Amino acid sequence: MTDKSQPANHVDMTVNLGGLQLKNPVCTASGTFGYGLEYEEYFDPAVLGAVIVKGTTLEPRPGNPPTRIIETPAGMLNAIGLENPGVDVFIEQYMPELRKRGVTVVANIAGNTVDEYAELARRLDAVEGIGALELNISCPNVAKGGLQFGTDPDMVYQVVYEVRQNTKLPVIPKLSPNVTDIVVIAQAAQSGGADALSMINTLMGMAVDIERRKPVLANVFGGLSGPAIKPVALRMIYQVYQQVKLPILGGGGIVSARDALEFMMAGASAVSIGTGIFVDPYLPCQVIEGLQEYARQHGITRITDLVGIAH
Ligand SMILES: Cc1cc2nc3c(=O)[nH]c(=O)nc-3n(C[C@H](O)[C@H](O)[C@H](O)COP(=O)(O)O)c2cc1C
Repeated sequence: MTDKSQPANHVDMTVNLGGLQLKNPVCTASGTFGYGLEYEEYFDPAVLGAVIVKGTTLEPRPGNPPTRIIETPAGMLNAIGLENPGVDVFIEQYMPELRKRGVTVVANIAGNTVDEYAELARRLDAVEGIGALELNISCPNVAKGGLQFGTDPDMVYQVVYEVRQNTKLPVIPKLSPNVTDIVVIAQAAQSGGADALSMINTLMGMAVDIERRKPVLANVFGGLSGPAIKPVALRMIYQVYQQVKLPILGGGGIVSARDALEFMMAGASAVSIGTGIFVDPYLPCQVIEGLQEYARQHGITRITDLVGIAH
């Protein structure tokens, strides 16, 4: 029986990401789209599957000194160092605006210790309008926390477990690609109680200024993002999809609907777009339309039917 309430070529774009209901699979990646409000002159952030906001810490952070960003072939290196105004400002200033606009918000949290992650989870659990917590356990640009959590399976388990005990929200650890075996890390996150996995964060890299004869970035190392990392991201998502029973929020170098389709076919239930937004702020909308168009052309009525289809 056909559903008469829907036009013949209707595509169901909704996705359930570990309990977080998205109107479509397209999200903006943490740290690349501010709080969404900064991009309102381009489009309404409420049209997105979700806005994953800039990483939040308990206390405000000034970030690293400059130089913090440089362009590379097919990508960029950043060492922002989690600059942010702290969780109180996020809750008191940004969340009311995001709530008013009906934006699906995923908060991204980072701590120096397991207790700090737990405390952030507790604080945000009580805030209306937050749909899920993404745990940044993979930031290569800060001295403490960050990467040191995300590369050790025991630490991944502990952080996820403690956050799980302190929130009812879906918990989505963001995995680092700077590891030998991503599946082991994903399994540790699953054992700790994760509802979904976000992957991948940036790959650690560096650049040298040949006139100064010094590293370009003040932090020496930075995170590589953009199209350069797409094949690595796809490979890791493909591997994890086969071994772990959690939905995946996939990203890393997406600059077109075609890229997003590759991620979904490799196993991502939803996608995140980061560096591509710096080139074209309308990109997330184009990807939503491109996914719809592909589905219509191929007679697909539910976008989720594409998830993992390349296996
Ligand atoms: C300037 C910049 C800032 C970022 N800040 C964060 C952050 O605060 N928290 C986080 O989890 N990831 C952060 N990321 C990583 C992105 O969310 C994303 O995972 C990564 O850039 C790969 O996707 P892309 O190639 O589409 O950019 C940042 C990336 C960039 C380029």
